[in-house]
Amino acid sequence: MTTAYAPGKVILFGEHAVVYGRPAIAVPVSQVRACAVVENASLGKGMTIRATDLELALRLDASTATDHPAYALQATVRNVLGWLQCSSVPDLTLTVSSTVPMARGLGSGAALATAVVRALSRHLGRELTSQQVSELVYQTEVIHHGTPSGIDNTVVAFERPVYFVRGQPIEVLQVRRPFWLAIGDTGIASPTRVAVGDVRRGWQSDPRTYDALFDCIGAIAAAAKQAIASGNLPALGVFMDENQVLLARLGVSSPELDRLLHAARAAGAMGAKLCGAGRGGNMIALVAQDQAKSVATALRRAGAANAIVTQVPQSE
Ligand code: PMV
Repeated sequence: MTTAYAPGKVILFGEHAVVYGRPAIAVPVSQVRACAVVENASLGKGMTIRATDLELALRLDASTATDHPAYALQATVRNVLGWLQCSSVPDLTLTVSSTVPMARGLGSGAALATAVVRALSRHLGRELTSQQVSELVYQTEVIHHGTPSGIDNTVVAFERPVYFVRGQPIEVLQVRRPFWLAIGDTGIASPTRVAVGDVRRGWQSDPRTYDALFDCIGAIAAAAKQAIASGNLPALGVFMDENQVLLARLGVSSPELDRLLHAARAAGAMGAKLCGAGRGGNMIALVAQDQAKSVATALRRAGAANAIVTQVPQSE
């Protein structure tokens, strides 16, 4: 039996603009994670996929529509078997589960695919590099998102804070001082594909305005990288607020997100913004360690379906 886990993630700066080549920053979130377990099955059984959270069990070769919850899982498994040049489908049972909420900007799809790629390849005797895992997970992200930037598979597969530019090699973020984030969930599922598609239509109809917004977001991400490298947390908070204003202008905030952002700031957060595709999903707030619990409580009182606190540790 082989088990592998993968964390969730949050985007600190630069979502959406990152699809258009601007830099972005993301960090893994280990409080939520996906799990994949691979076990041998009896001879001739073929491969079965079980998703315990969804109470789902089906064969690898079962035909599923593209919007079926198991479609991306089946594709991920096939991609791994193809990568490993397996000539036939092995007799295995793959069981997946996850505490990363789906379609809430915490990288649930990338986390599940990463756990599957690692568990399956290890069980078949191959230890893939993080880069190889990331490339395989990117193929699953294409199914989920259509036109992913690659930031989710990179931060989840490498499990390190990253400064990410589409198409460029991974750059691990230098963190001078640890910092804390309160993460609040609006409880509203928001498929990434929809928000990314709407932003694309906006950009196509008014490229000058959208490119200018993307440039400003990219400049904030670059400045935030310096603030993180020098441990300037007050500046980081200001950058989050500024990034949020620009995300709202892209049309991806929502009244529910705005309510949580307001509650976090009123409870003493240094800055706050939505994270991921927006419209629903999660928001993050930069908090001092001794304020983290009270900000999380304020988020729940303001209607958050869930609120967790995570630390971004100092670089070794
Ligand atoms: O909603 P999430 O967590 O999948 O984040 C998407 C981030 C976007 O920048 C909106 C899309 C992308 O592919 O980078």
